[in-house]
Amino acid sequence: MPDRRIIAVLGATGSQGGSLCDAILDDPQGAFACRAITRNPGSDKAKELARRGAEIVAGDLDDEASLTAAFAGAYGVYGVTNYPEFLSVEREQQQAVNIARAAKSSSAAHVIWSTLDDTDQWLPLSDPRMPTLMGGYKCPHSDAKGQIDHVFTDLGVPTTFLLTCFYWDNFYTIGWGPKKCEDGTYALDFPIGNARMPGIAVEDIGKCALAIFRQGADAIGRHIGISGEHLSGAEMAEKCSAGLGIDCRFAPVTAEAYRNLGFPGADDLGNMFQIFEEFEEQYRASRSMETTRTLVPGALTFDQWLAKYRERIPL
Ligand SMILES: NC(=O)c1ccc[n+]([C@@H]2O[C@H](COP(=O)([O-])OP(=O)(O)OC[C@H]3O[C@@H](n4cnc5c(N)ncnc54)[C@H](OP(=O)(O)O)[C@@H]3O)[C@@H](O)[C@H]2O)c1
Repeated sequence: MPDRRIIAVLGATGSQGGSLCDAILDDPQGAFACRAITRNPGSDKAKELARRGAEIVAGDLDDEASLTAAFAGAYGVYGVTNYPEFLSVEREQQQAVNIARAAKSSSAAHVIWSTLDDTDQWLPLSDPRMPTLMGGYKCPHSDAKGQIDHVFTDLGVPTTFLLTCFYWDNFYTIGWGPKKCEDGTYALDFPIGNARMPGIAVEDIGKCALAIFRQGADAIGRHIGISGEHLSGAEMAEKCSAGLGIDCRFAPVTAEAYRNLGFPGADDLGNMFQIFEEFEEQYRASRSMETTRTLVPGALTFDQWLAKYRERIPL
């Protein structure tokens, strides 16, 4: 199909971009061609994408010229940055600027920027409920993204702002699943109190992005939030018990205890979970399950995700 429009996918070897590559490559309509951008075209993941039909192109988010070259001739661009790799607001925002400028100079017709909320809209820095981090942010990995959205608009880049949420796949990719207790039972310990937390199967992020590219002009200029289900910690634990055949309960640590866990970025994530709890209504309102199922009717529920991925979850 020589006339297929190209989607240039950043993060193609990772969770979000990888799921979009899967969605494009597995799409029975085959409307788009997949261009996977990576710093390392020789990696096993890149080779596997090539084997499945993706075009592999080198590009580095820290190098605008490399992105301009990588976006050449593409109809669409999926932009995602990887804050946890470097924990720097300035670097993540510069990467976002590089994406926007490269998309502008290569005349991309539709960009999806994977952003998150600027929590300043809910919680001023002067609010004493949680510490201000890095000199000016309550939730650096989220604020960094939300506060740079305007660059896409300022440059006149036709952009959809995609608000993702907690990946359920974190259970097996970064060990955020049920933790085994000394008595043989399991616990989920996110500091979210009684709040319901939006979550999503990573595979559905890519499917939603593909549906947004299909919508084209109708989606440009919009913030679109996605989630498979909004669940409390107790509901997730109950579903883990049933779906994984374990005795799992919800035993939240405090946000303060989470901030002090000692790993890099723990304070940012402790604040994030506290924001999920204290600004539950606002956070959930921007991530509609209905919108998600309008884009992807078969988007997975947590039960369905557990059934599909249970073998990957370390217990
Ligand atoms: N975990 C969650 O629940 C969650 C929820 C919402 C949002 N997020 C956000 O998601 C983002 C991370 O996305 P992800 O989970 O898809 O990441 P991931 O699975 O860790 O993969 C990172 C991807 O980014 C690419 N990458 C990193 N630095 C690059 C650079 N300088 N140039 C080009 N490519 C680069 C990597 O490609 P190569 O190594 O092949 O170059 C890889 O494909 C973070 O910013 C995080 O805040 C996470």
